Amino acid sequence: MRYLETAVEIAREAGALLATYFERRVPFELKGEFDLVTEADRASEQLVVERLRSHFPSHSIVGEEGFGHESASEYRWFVDPLDGTTNFAHSFPCFNVTLGLERAGETIAGVVYDPIRQEMFTAERGAGAYLNNRRIHVSKTRKLGDSLASTGFPSRKRHHNVNIHFYYQLAMASHGVRRTGSAAIDLAYVASGRLDFFWEFGLKPWDMAAGTLLVQEAGGRTSDMRGAAHSVTGSEHLLADNGVLHEEVLEMFGRIFGGSFPVEMPRIG
Ligand code: IPD
Ligand code: CA
Ligand code: CA
Repeated sequence: MRYLETAVEIAREAGALLATYFERRVPFELKGEFDLVTEADRASEQLVVERLRSHFPSHSIVGEEGFGHESASEYRWFVDPLDGTTNFAHSFPCFNVTLGLERAGETIAGVVYDPIRQEMFTAERGAGAYLNNRRIHVSKTRKLGDSLASTGFPSRKRHHNVNIHFYYQLAMASHGVRRTGSAAIDLAYVASGRLDFFWEFGLKPWDMAAGTLLVQEAGGRTSDMRGAAHSVTGSEHLLADNGVLHEEVLEMFGRIFGGSFPVEMPRIG
């Protein structure tokens, strides 16, 4: 499909641009108390928006850094020009550029590109998910107790975030919970079987549009954290997994939401 091919081309170009900034180590600025942004975020978004507008002038574009373009088109791109800014600003090599395209409210194509590993994750609705053009599938892990997970903690309003409770309980019930610092990488890793599940509170459409499609097209399942249907623009809380673990993880979430913690937090001293 022309949309996916173009998104791949643009993500590769933006990824190469991010890599040049990464080598130079650019200073960060603050958008909020701990919400970092760099010159690289803006340069990447300007490049992506410019390219999208020249290929698809009528499409809407929503970019995290605000360079998007509104229109009445049923096609809308969600662009995270640099997902993993905190990592990037500290020279921690885990970040990506991601583009998701929706048509009439349904995500139809998505790309997550990691320029450090040169890994291009792609998906088109109904046509499967791929890593560097090779088909990928979610893991076959059957039990929470045998799983590896990942989660994230937002940089905005982080003192309101209750995820530490979920983190602890799920870490105790599994092989461990990673924190990559990049939600789109987490989702791409669920799609490729490197992780069994991922959840996070407070995600934005550009963090998850491409990644949720990747997971679905790789045979996995997505929902909100209480098990209701998830939508990229309608639900900020996401659970994405290999499908097999979905009910078991939801059951655990349900207990935690209800205030019943299977494992008590250790006391200090
Ligand atoms: C953030 C990362 C992080 C997640 C945050 C996101 P950004 O995106 O994906 O892993 O925990 O919720 O905001 O700000 O680096 O594009
Ligand atoms: Ca992001
Ligand atoms: Ca970002």
